[in-house]
Amino acid sequence: MTTSQQPIPAARPVIGEEEIEAAVRVLRSGRVVQGPEVAAFEESFSELVDGRHCVAVNSGTSALHLLLLALGIGPGDEVIVPSFSFAATANVVRLVGADAVFADIEPDSFGLDPAAVEAAITPRTAAIMPVHLYGHPAAMDKIMAIAAKHKLAVVEDACQSHAASLNGTPVGAFGAGGTFSFYPTKNMHSLEGGMVSTGDAEIARTLRLLRNQGMEQRYANEIIGMNMRLTDVAAAIGRVQLSKLNGWTEQRIANAAYLTEHISAPAVTTPTVAEGARHIFHQYTIRVRGDRDAAMAALTEAGIGNAVYYPTPIHRLKPFWEPDQKAGRNWDLPETEKAAAEVVSLPVHPSLSAADLDRIVAAVNDLGENL
Ligand SMILES: Cc1ncc(COP(=O)(O)O)c(C=O)c1O
Repeated sequence: MTTSQQPIPAARPVIGEEEIEAAVRVLRSGRVVQGPEVAAFEESFSELVDGRHCVAVNSGTSALHLLLLALGIGPGDEVIVPSFSFAATANVVRLVGADAVFADIEPDSFGLDPAAVEAAITPRTAAIMPVHLYGHPAAMDKIMAIAAKHKLAVVEDACQSHAASLNGTPVGAFGAGGTFSFYPTKNMHSLEGGMVSTGDAEIARTLRLLRNQGMEQRYANEIIGMNMRLTDVAAAIGRVQLSKLNGWTEQRIANAAYLTEHISAPAVTTPTVAEGARHIFHQYTIRVRGDRDAAMAALTEAGIGNAVYYPTPIHRLKPFWEPDQKAGRNWDLPETEKAAAEVVSLPVHPSLSAADLDRIVAAVNDLGENL
């Protein structure tokens, strides 16, 4: 890296003038808690999920948690999840008192392997929770067919995949419900925030109650609930970001196409896109055969931000590993283990310049010597 070259960060959250103005406008209005901005944000977001009901909450984790509660999933139930995901995916299963059953992934999409899902079904299975990892839709056509055959709910963890789709259907519009995260590094954000989409008006109503102490009318509590409301300040920022999502997504897809066309290092496998899939490249994730630590160190040395999502599969994290070991439960997840050992995500965000892309390509193509 020459001194004139700034490092290229792995992600670059946008907090622009429009976002700042929107936040200040709401702050000055004095109406900052869940109100008209949240309602407007929900209405606009619904266009991303085929017009489904949308309920905004304070994080993607809250969205998943409330959706499981609204579906009545709890003690005695099993939920089939990938182990190759962010811990929130399985944490929420445990938080509602259910058991996480880990199924292996497909090596190309990094999403749940439908055959592994079907093999994991037991009489206690209540739901399947595919994760659209990195922005690539999971194999929803096959997973929905399995769920229908076994009468199981499908909960889509779309926290990384705003506006991804499979065969024209957007993620978040397949299952009983879908969930999105608006954490700053996501393709769009609201500082912190989340959204649940559902086609079922009753579930949507339950979600609205759950996020607000079980109340629709103040002090007329109908069920036990929590406070998982989104503020109007966050929603106003989210609305600005949502208006830019389409352009940013197209830029991410173009950046990914450029990287894939030009990366040629023999030890590196570039990401693939399944037929019929719209991969929105929340992450551009390569596989590195050989010494990954050395490859990452070389990329960092060249000023290329890089990161591993996720180095430890969820089933190996202490809160899952220890009780499973005690219960004699061992998971056979070879593709998960392989992915966790090989993946590296490179910058793909829409702020990259043409020169940045060329620097990323050059650094990756130089890796041969470093492995
Ligand atoms: C796959 C996945 N699920 C769930 C979450 C949780 O979202 P949040 O961080 O907004 O709670 C995230 C985001 O970090 C995620 O990547």
